[in-house]
Amino acid sequence: MEIIIQANAAVANGVAARLFAKAIRRNAGAVLGLATGGTPLALYRELIAMKLDWRKIVTFNLDEYVGLAPDHSQSYHYFMWENLFRHVNIAKKNVHIPDGLAKDIPKFCAKYEKQIHAAGGIDLQLLGIGTDGHIGFNEPTSSLASRTRIKTLTPQTRKDNARFFGSEAEVPHHCITMGIGTIMEARHCVMLAFGKNKARAIAETVEGPVTSMNPASALQLHPRVTVFLDEDSASELKLSDYYRWVYDNKPDWQKF
Ligand code: F6R
Repeated sequence: MEIIIQANAAVANGVAARLFAKAIRRNAGAVLGLATGGTPLALYRELIAMKLDWRKIVTFNLDEYVGLAPDHSQSYHYFMWENLFRHVNIAKKNVHIPDGLAKDIPKFCAKYEKQIHAAGGIDLQLLGIGTDGHIGFNEPTSSLASRTRIKTLTPQTRKDNARFFGSEAEVPHHCITMGIGTIMEARHCVMLAFGKNKARAIAETVEGPVTSMNPASALQLHPRVTVFLDEDSASELKLSDYYRWVYDNKPDWQKF
């Protein structure tokens, strides 16, 4: 894992945006895995401002709430169109987001996996992280080999996400999420985590044992992961000086 600690989230988002822009410019038909939530908002704003060419870009979102229609203001469909897609020249047919209203959820999930495969797999997967270490909505004890499927959100995640809804009671109980096994097949995973409330999950992800108790720790087994942090989210890392030293001494050809 490459750990990049920046002074604050704004600086980290700037570097992460350059990484994404480079991938899009290098491969006009890149397949991107995308995330929702509070964390990627600033990155999406940066990417919009860069006026990149999204015509042939293909996207797959990590997850969606079960029971929310695409036009529900808290659905991840709505989030993605509102915060990214409607501001860029992406083709609607290239956008894939799990269908929260799917009648036959297992069938839909199998189809989603097939669509990722048919697109050639995910080149660059954006990830946030939950305070409990979830990626996508793979909550603690999720199988580290899991594929796209229905999951039940933990009370903690429903509490964390209540800020986007009117109240906790309105947060759905279920979601469709790519599995850890699905995420692990992306060629490059980029995680963003900012703020003190992510510090423990990040320390466990990067320096703890690989365990389904912190699903993100599976990324230790992935050959190419880049983690962007601010000082707060990095505050519980034991080897933070080492990560800073590595980044400061990156060879030119590896810079973003
Ligand atoms: C959302 C997703 C989740 C979030 C995580 C952090 O698509 O996959 O894993 O990344 O819940 O959410 P925020 O960014 O709101 O702290």
